[in-house]
Amino acid sequence: MIELDQVSKRFNEGQPNEVLALRDVNLQLPLGEISVLEGPSGSGKTTLLTLIGCVARPSEGRIRLGGELVSNLPELHLAELRRRRFGIVFQRFNLIAGLSALDNVMLPAYPLGLPHRRLVERAREVMAQLSVGHRAEARVELLSGGEMQRVAIARALINDPEVLIADEPTANLDGRLAGQFLEIVAALKAQGRTLVIASHDPRIIEAPTVDRVVRMADGAVQGVRRC
Ligand SMILES: Nc1ncnc2c1ncn2[C@@H]1O[C@H](COP(=O)(O)OP(=O)(O)O)[C@@H](O)[C@H]1O
Ligand SMILES: [Mg+2]
Repeated sequence: MIELDQVSKRFNEGQPNEVLALRDVNLQLPLGEISVLEGPSGSGKTTLLTLIGCVARPSEGRIRLGGELVSNLPELHLAELRRRRFGIVFQRFNLIAGLSALDNVMLPAYPLGLPHRRLVERAREVMAQLSVGHRAEARVELLSGGEMQRVAIARALINDPEVLIADEPTANLDGRLAGQFLEIVAALKAQGRTLVIASHDPRIIEAPTVDRVVRMADGAVQGVRRC
């Protein structure tokens, strides 16, 4: 279970431009399921994903992952936890132009210190599973939208994470690619992974493979719908 207990997040704390981006969020997301955070722009979806993914820490409240308290870990431990247990597909994918698809996929694995040859093998394997292995040597800026999406997912999976986080993954994709994304997500769930996806795309929210929709507004959870 991913558990959030009275979690709040402030930006620019104590300054005139302080923002309360999340307020008193209580939430339980079972491992092995697909949860979608739904809500208008500015409702706090991305902020909540960064807290769940251990990219940032809450200003108040506690977060537990599989019973372990993660919200008060020192930065070094948090970074380690993030690398080993979470994969993140960023909004607009955040691929690094000028590098090959393969190099992009390998990036999050460098700090783990695998032998280079083993790392290349692993990256090629994950890319092949996502049907983008044939594009390994291509520079990412030359890939199609669907290929970029798969490379971004491969990069998120390189360290074999338990939890995959995706932020508005279909925002810029046509219907066919959104469908492909959902197929990939269903396959990852079948492997036992947990998925947390921020989206206001009805193609995602209404997908049969989704287990739970968390409705957000103005930094607060309005309700949770089991699907
Ligand atoms: N780094 C930041 N600094 C200041 N304010 C931020 C920052 N990130 C997000 N916010 C604010 O927090 C609120 C929630 O933003 P966000 O989590 O990005 O919402 P969503 O992903 O649902 O669009 C918004 O008011 C946004 O402007
Ligand atoms: Mg967002």
